[in-house]
Amino acid sequence: MPWKEAERNPFLQGNFAPWLGEGRCDDLEVVGTIPPELNGTFYRNGPNSEFEPIGRYHWFDGDGMIHAVRLAAGRASYQNRWVESTGLLEERAKGRALFPGIFGMSADEMPSFKNTANTNIVAHAGRLLALMEGALPTRLDPATLATLGEYDFDGRLVPPMTAHPKMDPETGEMLFFGYSPFPPYLRYHVVDRAGTLLRSEEIDLAWPSMIHDFAITRDHVVFMLCPLVFSLEEIARRGSPFFWDDDRPTRLGVMPRAGGNADVRWFDAEPSYVFHPMNAYAESGRIEIDAPLFRRLDFMDNPDRQRSGSGERDGARLSRWTIDLAAGTVRTEQRDDGATEFPRIDERQLGRRHRFGYAAAGRRDDATTTAPLFSGIRRYDLERGTIETRWHGMGNGVSEPVFVPRSATAAEDDGFLLYFAYDRERDASDFLILDARNITREPVATVRLPHRVPYGFHGNWVAAA
Ligand SMILES: [Fe+2]
Repeated sequence: MPWKEAERNPFLQGNFAPWLGEGRCDDLEVVGTIPPELNGTFYRNGPNSEFEPIGRYHWFDGDGMIHAVRLAAGRASYQNRWVESTGLLEERAKGRALFPGIFGMSADEMPSFKNTANTNIVAHAGRLLALMEGALPTRLDPATLATLGEYDFDGRLVPPMTAHPKMDPETGEMLFFGYSPFPPYLRYHVVDRAGTLLRSEEIDLAWPSMIHDFAITRDHVVFMLCPLVFSLEEIARRGSPFFWDDDRPTRLGVMPRAGGNADVRWFDAEPSYVFHPMNAYAESGRIEIDAPLFRRLDFMDNPDRQRSGSGERDGARLSRWTIDLAAGTVRTEQRDDGATEFPRIDERQLGRRHRFGYAAAGRRDDATTTAPLFSGIRRYDLERGTIETRWHGMGNGVSEPVFVPRSATAAEDDGFLLYFAYDRERDASDFLILDARNITREPVATVRLPHRVPYGFHGNWVAAA
């Protein structure tokens, strides 16, 4: 990495450093056997700056790069390509970075913002969308990964759009929200199975915050408002757009899917921050939400502590919130002593009672500056209360495990976990396929990739049509 900033910034070192090339490789080396049931493409998004960043660089800032692994008839190919945002094209024209990141902005620079599209990649109604929470989605060509441009649902969507929309497994609807530091702080949207944006609703919020994700049940939407408060004054004072306010609770806003803003009921819970709920469901007058809870989000509050929030000490713990709708209370119960994040389930259970969950796990014994945030894969049986972990070697970071069912009618945990794992010795990454029921056994298949895939954010499996 020839960049000067890389010498002092851990997010530009080791396997956090961007991969400065694009390409495609067919018929990759496979150890084991790729299950013939897996016919489709695994897409994963992540930050990957093309130009040396200006100002203080954070992991959340890099240009989106898509890494796609295509599986068919037991064979695997790999392709990676940048999302060519308008901002990135402007930078290519100038030959240098033009946009500061979230911790590099001054208050009067707020409008100068790049839609990096770096956080997630989802398919809905035949459209493949790269997402980041501050802007419109970016539409991509599923076959070539070429950028087709920002997508606004035929002019109906007032941006931004969260990177974590929810696809209802029964109705086929895509539910999502967008948050803003300026009023209105929150909007909720419903897109029907065919991809038409049918409904947008402004939701009243007690304070502006960073709302990364939300939860749904069959009949409810649950918004999560945490004590991380947006503040223009703080940008000027400390360089972070957010501060952690110890005097505020975490508030869970429950809205009936058939209702609107006037029907939202807010429930106070102990202060915590949640990036990603694992799942939620409603049963017997209660809403159960499993989510990795950070007790405090210091690394967003203080730009000098960017690399905390990882590992055993400061990481999130999988917990269950139980909202008692009649009593108006929230009970919080920790379900795991270890640090995990990037929780996933069998998406066919989304909003319904789930028994199994999967996540990336942090380890306590790696204190190097380029240590991965996560180097294990966790499997939860939430009914039996058992937890299993597959650890990769020291320094070998893993990405979010994505569950793919063996078939449309397979049982909840009958399927595979797909993810990238960095191999520090080879300085390259593997694409792993685990049997979701036996995650500690030898992988079903290990696909050797031609180079490393930098640590990134979210991905999804799209079965071939
Ligand atoms: Fe996320």
